[in-house]
Amino acid sequence: MDYSQALNKLKHYNQEHILKFYDKMPKQKQEELLKQIENLDLEQISTLFKNIKNQENKKTKVEPIEYVDKEKLTEEEKKEYERLGNETLSSGKIAAITMAGGQGTRLGHKGPKGTFDLGLKSHKTLFEIICDTLKKVQEQNGVTIPWYIMTSEENNEETVEFFKKNNYFGYPEKEITFFKQGQYPMIDINGKILLDENGLVKQAADGHGGVYIAMQKNNIIEDMRKKGIKWVVIGGVDNVLVNMFDPIFIGMYIKQGYKSASKSVVKKYPEEKVGVFCKKNGRPSIIEYTELSEEMANDRDENGELKYGESNIIVHIFELEVIEKISKNLLPYHPAFKKANYMNENGEIVIAKEPNAYKFEAFIFDAFEQLDNMSILRVNREEEFAPVKNSDDKGVDCPKTARELYKKHFQIKE
Ligand code: UTP
Repeated sequence: MDYSQALNKLKHYNQEHILKFYDKMPKQKQEELLKQIENLDLEQISTLFKNIKNQENKKTKVEPIEYVDKEKLTEEEKKEYERLGNETLSSGKIAAITMAGGQGTRLGHKGPKGTFDLGLKSHKTLFEIICDTLKKVQEQNGVTIPWYIMTSEENNEETVEFFKKNNYFGYPEKEITFFKQGQYPMIDINGKILLDENGLVKQAADGHGGVYIAMQKNNIIEDMRKKGIKWVVIGGVDNVLVNMFDPIFIGMYIKQGYKSASKSVVKKYPEEKVGVFCKKNGRPSIIEYTELSEEMANDRDENGELKYGESNIIVHIFELEVIEKISKNLLPYHPAFKKANYMNENGEIVIAKEPNAYKFEAFIFDAFEQLDNMSILRVNREEEFAPVKNSDDKGVDCPKTARELYKKHFQIKE
């Protein structure tokens, strides 16, 4: 795309300010900017902006989703699922993805979140803690699970360096693959695309839902297929009790025969601000706490269990085939109002003190609505969920609480 084609494209959507500093930019940046403009989906950006302004309320029928409670399984069921799960794990047809492209804003750690030291005597970082779970499969099932790590434009280099410096935590280097998630342009409150300090389009990571398309664009799906992978376990980077390769979970999923499964923990209390699994218009989905009425949040079934109590802990398993299908359909993008430094129309760099711009994120669970159904396994929070989300001063879901739960679980006395 040359300059005049780019200008024409932008004019149509009132975004020609993007080219204002073109003449002053070095040749290489000019080319980069034209490439960015060529790739911009201005129609989509304009639609997303309009949607922020008039949040349309589509009629959605929300119902509770069925789940299995791990603690209520009979001995027989447990044995059967364990056998099936171990068989599946030992087949060598499972790969794992750790989504580590987030910014970790709440934690405030300098560097990729996975490099955060939990504060144990061993100085294990979040990445090493996940690696331990992969090593356990090596020991118990005799297979090495291919481990794919999704990074972002911002943290890829540092992440790769960190693994190298730490000798891949003793995991075979050839089994570890890094790939970058995509980005999406940021816009201001008037729908104008922002420029960064170099005069290029300002972009931000496109959310954990970017995982599917990033797998496709980076040939991860193809790579997995070549390795004979049939199932992919996907998890976040910040739960220090994560149990992704749980034979009971995998066995239950295989037995139920759905294309995907997730783990859940029950809400701490009905008003807890978490998204919960449900069915929307008959399909599996997540309903955000903001969408849940007080009545629904408190609604209980005949056993006294919350009907909308299954919160998402980002432990998912999918058939590779399904991931491929999902990667071809665009997921919805959710706006998030954030602080963003940018270059204004006078060429000055503006440092944001308050939120001033929208970034757009896709959510991994929005893809569930493309499935007919899925399995949900409710697990015990104390045993499987200790997230590192906030800094210690917040007192919840922070390094201190995660460390305590970790020590208790692994019976570490220090
Ligand atoms: P969170 O939504 O908790 O975001 O991500 P975060 O980046 O860790 O923290 P905050 O919200 O900025 O404080 C849940 C998981 O999804 C990954 C994160 O790395 C984490 O493992 N994630 C999130 C991505 O990989 N990419 C994204 O764009 C967003």
